[in-house]
Amino acid sequence: MFCGIWRRQNRFAIKCCYELVVFFTDINVQQKDIFLASEADAWFERNHQACLERDFANDDLVARIVARIVSRVSLHGGGPIKLLEIGCGEGRRLEWLAKNFNIEVYGIEPSAKAVEQACSRGVKAQRGTADTLPFETASFDIVVFGFCLYLCDRQDLFRIACEADRVLKPKAWVIINDFFSSTPMKREYHHKSGMYSYKMDYRTIFDWHPAYTCYEHKLTSHSLGDLIDDPQEWVAISLLRKVTTSNE
Ligand SMILES: C[S@@+](CC[C@H](N)C(=O)[O-])C[C@H]1O[C@@H](n2cnc3c(N)ncnc32)[C@H](O)[C@@H]1O
Repeated sequence: MFCGIWRRQNRFAIKCCYELVVFFTDINVQQKDIFLASEADAWFERNHQACLERDFANDDLVARIVARIVSRVSLHGGGPIKLLEIGCGEGRRLEWLAKNFNIEVYGIEPSAKAVEQACSRGVKAQRGTADTLPFETASFDIVVFGFCLYLCDRQDLFRIACEADRVLKPKAWVIINDFFSSTPMKREYHHKSGMYSYKMDYRTIFDWHPAYTCYEHKLTSHSLGDLIDDPQEWVAISLLRKVTTSNE
């Protein structure tokens, strides 16, 4: 117990020092650093209750796509399927997927509190951000970006795609669920000044490359259902297939 209190106090002290350094030096801080320092834990605190109430069986498009991939052995080459969710939060989607399908689930997430919760649910979660993945090359069959790209620094998008590509097996899948806009848009992040959220067509960070093909792209909305005309409401779920051959 003493160790737990000491660790929490230590984490708090590191966070305070970090915020002070940023305040006084005005160094070029990236959004991911702010998430690692405090905002990811704040997101966890704000949304914890709502996360617990989410029903992954009925309303989760990602789960439906994973079900289809898992059932088509010919499309993933057999053997245990390994799935990584980037920005996995407290891991409830991963917990649900592991309980319902025979797959191994991994997560990466900047919030220490969310990672602790995810691990307690049996998810192999680690603290980190999308641009540096602490996993071996060619180790995953499926990588899911579950509503995290809209928070990522624009200067990191090439690295993020490169890292996902590195950890994906030669025949693998990418699922992206995020805000959608046909032209890139930037908005103030209303929880913290100086931070932004970004909408765009996130398929494009992969499908310019000959190895990636978009199999599905569905526009929907957060709260209003399908076939919504208002572009402000659009979210997209995209399924991409990576197939690399030796001459690519
Ligand atoms: C909207 S939540 C989504 C959580 C979960 N994937 C879901 O679909 O319920 C966004 C998550 O992305 C995380 N996040 C923010 N910046 C990130 C980054 N650069 N890399 C990875 N995850 C990030 C946040 O901490 C937060 O948990």
